[in-house]
Amino acid sequence: MKFFLDTANLDEIREAAAFGIADGVTTNPTLISKEGDVDFKEHIAAICKIVSGPVSAECTSEETEGMLQQGREYAKIAPNVVIKCPLTRAGLKATKQLSSEGIKVNVTLCFSAAQAIMAAKAGASFISPFIGRLDDIGENGLVLLQDIIDIYRNYTWKTEVLAASMRSPIHVIEAARMGADIATIPFKVIDQLFNHPLTDKGQAQFLADWHKSGRK
Ligand code: G3P
Repeated sequence: MKFFLDTANLDEIREAAAFGIADGVTTNPTLISKEGDVDFKEHIAAICKIVSGPVSAECTSEETEGMLQQGREYAKIAPNVVIKCPLTRAGLKATKQLSSEGIKVNVTLCFSAAQAIMAAKAGASFISPFIGRLDDIGENGLVLLQDIIDIYRNYTWKTEVLAASMRSPIHVIEAARMGADIATIPFKVIDQLFNHPLTDKGQAQFLADWHKSGRK
């Protein structure tokens, strides 16, 4: 399973890249707005300098024509830019057109298996089911993820399943167990993946014993 960073923060992306786990990056308008008054295209370019894998830049137009304009413009920022379109009718029309022009599209805000099928039929390169946001409303986001993976396995669609809105290590582990192509993970959750209290306790004990024996 590939790891994408679900952040627009350059320090977080650099830190994950240092561990060799930044296979790509996903941004969205909320994540970009958290970075303050940055120029959108320059900021995406800066991310693309750190990460050679796919970097998602999201359209903010609600009309197909506007998404096409933004998508074509953003695709020129760097060869690894992927255009994010919402799972709306306008978004899927833009997905179809951009994909036919050779521009990769990540279809975002997917909350049902039916929507995931529509995105694959439109030629999306990635489908982003939002796991945590379904959990937030009392549904089980991981059930949706499994449904999409099962359905896609029946066909030769090129669409990769990109598990998004990952809120905990359990989400990451279960996505890996199911065979999701990619998980896009916030830095906070990446950090949690390293942790185990017995590792900390064991390391402290090893070093204490080492120093107790007079060694430096
Ligand atoms: O990249 C979009 C998605 O991962 C958003 O996650 O935590 O805002 O639901 P969240």
